[in-house]
Amino acid sequence: MKEKIKVLFICLGNICRSPAAQGAFENLVKKQNKEHLFEIDSCGTSGYHDGELPDPRTRKVALNRGIHLTHRSRKLRRIDLIDFDYLLVMDENNFQEVMSLTTEESIRKKVFKFASFRTEIGPDIVPDPYYGGESDFEKVQDLVEDCSVGFLKYLGV
Ligand code: 4NP
Repeated sequence: MKEKIKVLFICLGNICRSPAAQGAFENLVKKQNKEHLFEIDSCGTSGYHDGELPDPRTRKVALNRGIHLTHRSRKLRRIDLIDFDYLLVMDENNFQEVMSLTTEESIRKKVFKFASFRTEIGPDIVPDPYYGGESDFEKVQDLVEDCSVGFLKYLGV
């Protein structure tokens, strides 16, 4: 059997952006009956919220789109860098954090800013909504859904 494509979404707390991205991408591949092709997970560069469900605002916005988020926050592990094929970060800080963990070119090549896959021109970051309002969470949800479409197209599966 063919190896699955292993995708890891990474943000700071793993309670807002990366679980939203995980949920959006899982939902998209499910709609296209491509679940069998993927292993999908998310994590944070910090362990601030270890074991927690996503932020209530993230869950509410996702649920309004029919996406039920059950992921529990976890911190990025060194082994993730080896295990996963795509390390999709949300912003410049996440990018620098992940890059600081390795000088190995084969790993560094796996790190992408998720918003670089957006389908229309715009900034290549998913902004942190944590200190914002509900509209910021809506914007994150819209963006991660769009980036999911772009990323799946990029993969060409
Ligand atoms: P996330 O958002 O990185 O998108 O999960 C944040 C969540 C928590 C904190 C910062 C950002 N925090 O400082 O606790």
